[in-house]
Amino acid sequence: MTLIFAHRGSKGTHPENTLAAFQEAAAVGSDGIELDVHLSKDGQLVVIHDELVDRTTNGQGYIKDKTVAEIKALDAGGWFSSEFQGETIPTFDEVLSLLDRMLFNGYLNIEIKTDKLDYPGIEQLVSERMTRREWSFIYFYSSFNFATLKKMQALEPVTPKAMIMSTSQKKVSLARSTDWIDALHPSIDWVKEAKGQFSKKLRPWTVNSKEDMMYCFEHQLAGIHTDFPEKAIALRQQLSS
Ligand code: G3P
Ligand code: MG
Repeated sequence: MTLIFAHRGSKGTHPENTLAAFQEAAAVGSDGIELDVHLSKDGQLVVIHDELVDRTTNGQGYIKDKTVAEIKALDAGGWFSSEFQGETIPTFDEVLSLLDRMLFNGYLNIEIKTDKLDYPGIEQLVSERMTRREWSFIYFYSSFNFATLKKMQALEPVTPKAMIMSTSQKKVSLARSTDWIDALHPSIDWVKEAKGQFSKKLRPWTVNSKEDMMYCFEHQLAGIHTDFPEKAIALRQQLSS
């Protein structure tokens, strides 16, 4: 069965990477949830997609230049809809606690966002958070940055790791030749062009149209990342009945 991962939470219906988006993703029965982790100026892990807060909050500037108190003072919901005004950029701990409290028992895909900026020590910090206790969910790591995945492999050899890429052939070769990388997260366009031919698990992004969802289900891919998990679950259900 193709697993359905909610991309940045239920990004299509809620402001991405907020507690509201993660709560919705778990509530609709997503098999997995994906989030993006960055590091604040004062060394706290926070969950947001961009390096800058500009697109998804009422503030401006880099996460790396702000303390967690400054980050928490921003509104991360109003840009999406007035209904979500008051949502904030969550810390990594807040998301973990929420999912654990909800007894979410699917997969958590932790994307470490080191492809544009270097966040010294982020890998160690993430690993410390994750290994300090047991969680209701199963987690794995993903990144566009091979060096980050290598560090995670040294820290947690048993935790699965996925390489993210858009269309880079170099990354495909790297993933193919690295035995501890168990999955590739490519763009859906790359998957359709490669006709799904790949020896490792494929969980493409971002699979939002009915046509792309059908393609992935029919080719029995390992998973998809979608902004509309509820829609994807309904379609998969419809196909199997
Ligand atoms: O892991 C899939 C996807 O999250 C990668 O792209 O830019 O949305 O983080 P992005
Ligand atoms: Mg991501």
